[in-house]
Amino acid sequence: MSMPQPDETAGPGTEPKPRAYDADAEPVIRIDNLVSAFDENVVHEGLSLEVRRGEIIGLVGGSGAGKSVLLNTLIGLRDPQGGTVEVLGVDVQKATGPERDELERRWGVLFQSGALFSSLTVRENVSAPMSEHTGLSNHMTAELADTKLAMVGLPPRAGNLHPAELSGGMRKRAGLARAIALDPELLFLDEPTAGLDPISAEAFDTLISNLSEALGLTVFMITHDLDSLYALCDRVAVIADKKIVAVGPISDLEKSDHPWIKQYFLGPRGRAAATAADKPVRDTAVQGPNTDMPKEGA
Ligand SMILES: Nc1ncnc2c1ncn2[C@@H]1O[C@H](COP(=O)(O)OP(=O)(O)O)[C@@H](O)[C@H]1O
Ligand SMILES: [Mg+2]
Repeated sequence: MSMPQPDETAGPGTEPKPRAYDADAEPVIRIDNLVSAFDENVVHEGLSLEVRRGEIIGLVGGSGAGKSVLLNTLIGLRDPQGGTVEVLGVDVQKATGPERDELERRWGVLFQSGALFSSLTVRENVSAPMSEHTGLSNHMTAELADTKLAMVGLPPRAGNLHPAELSGGMRKRAGLARAIALDPELLFLDEPTAGLDPISAEAFDTLISNLSEALGLTVFMITHDLDSLYALCDRVAVIADKKIVAVGPISDLEKSDHPWIKQYFLGPRGRAAATAADKPVRDTAVQGPNTDMPKEGA
């Protein structure tokens, strides 16, 4: 295997190692010849993609290209019209009962809206998957929820608040805490930095990078955010013309002749993101700088 290996001597406080796509690693997602349609509206037609263990893969594509429909299909919320979807070795559409339950324990999802229960506190939101999937006491799940909140850079007092009392960046962090509540091996993110100001978005990128590193996650991330793609992704998959038209490191995609890809990566925003990516500003702690947390008593 020719992939660069992590430096064994690197301790905490050193630069995060560059993550790598390992073509020999086990596939954790296998999408084969997927067909999705809403009546006459065909969204996916022969879409195939494999995601390998340990990589952070970004999915990009125009608005309405079928990214969220793909995510919903991957997590079994939607049955496709054709093809197969295998996640963590299980045919998602056929998984029922305990098999389905196990899948839900092994993956975490951060939906675009955050999808937190508005009537529950943040701590209760993060505890919810634990209560659903484990036999732990309420006391235990609350304590574990607080450790998850700390991991995403939220203070314990945030646990007492309701989602509406949080800033956008804090809500994303709370959603992420819930997504990692059950120590998943696979994390799905739908537009995690959409709606955040640039500083909060960068802090959130750093958080995802450090968490995925610390927890050994495989990450499937839908995003429009070119800065996130450059900062985080080992590979990027492009959805256009109802299928994955290209997948690879950004440096490869920048050479693509596909009109959408050319416009996306070589337009002014793409070039600005590429330039910014040459100036690494990564934080090294597991918690990213928490710029969006209001000051105590503020
Ligand atoms: N529940 C639905 N009913 C009918 N059409 C839908 C539904 N969800 C998505 N679509 C259609 O599927 C296409 C892809 O949508 P989506 O996956 O949400 O796009 P995006 O890439 O922006 O996430 C769009 O044409 C959308 O109108
Ligand atoms: Mg979408």
